Amino acid sequence: MPLLLGVNIDHVATLRQARYALSPDAPLIEPCVIEAARAAIAGGADSITIHVRSDRRHMLDADAVKLREMLNVPLNLEMAVTDEMAGLALKWKPEFVCLVPENRLEITTEGGLNVLGNFDKTRMTIAKLQDAGIRVSIFIDPDLTQVEAAGEACADMIELHTGSFANAVGDAQEAELSRLIEAAKMAHPSMQVNAGHGIHYQNVASILRIPHLAELNIGHSIISRAVFTGLTPAVKEMKELLAAYSA
Ligand code: PXP
Repeated sequence: MPLLLGVNIDHVATLRQARYALSPDAPLIEPCVIEAARAAIAGGADSITIHVRSDRRHMLDADAVKLREMLNVPLNLEMAVTDEMAGLALKWKPEFVCLVPENRLEITTEGGLNVLGNFDKTRMTIAKLQDAGIRVSIFIDPDLTQVEAAGEACADMIELHTGSFANAVGDAQEAELSRLIEAAKMAHPSMQVNAGHGIHYQNVASILRIPHLAELNIGHSIISRAVFTGLTPAVKEMKELLAAYSA
């Protein structure tokens, strides 16, 4: 199985909201997230990921509705474990949901979800979404107790948080990679193993050493490269790097 690429387009909405959060009725609102999704798909994106945060700082409900209507690849909705978001997911029916922690003051999702510390609510949310035919992933740190808890909560997939790996250097980075490898081995084959956060064109080669990966979710580095190359070539280039993967 080829390693799939989910392209997170939140930062296209970040750029839009930087101006239009204050003037939502402006005659021209750009950049358009629908156009971004089209361009990412043209470059080979296997799914489109958005995080509709409780504070609506970038993606808005209307974006989710429009993407749901136009996408010809799966929509992966990242969301907090709240009743509000579960209700919206049941309405929008993305193919996948990824449960993530949310902290109002963070710039981006900082750590994985503490499944153990929030077990009953997580389990209940997963069951509700699965009953509606949505496959559910949990974004967790590469911590074996969290992998076990994700399994007990009946998650279909885990997404391993690669942020600590991405922020480390030298031996510390090797140690983080070992944690990711052990977590992936433990999750497979009972859960699909995805990974994401802080993955870029330089460090992705090391990420490809993690076994059993099905999909990477990448946002910031692709959108950053797209400023110079355009989004379709930026996605294409990342897809070419992923083609070297063998599980
Ligand atoms: N996966 C999850 C669960 C995330 O929250 C994010 C960031 O929004 C990503 C992947 C993508 O991270 P990055 O933007 O650093 O590639």
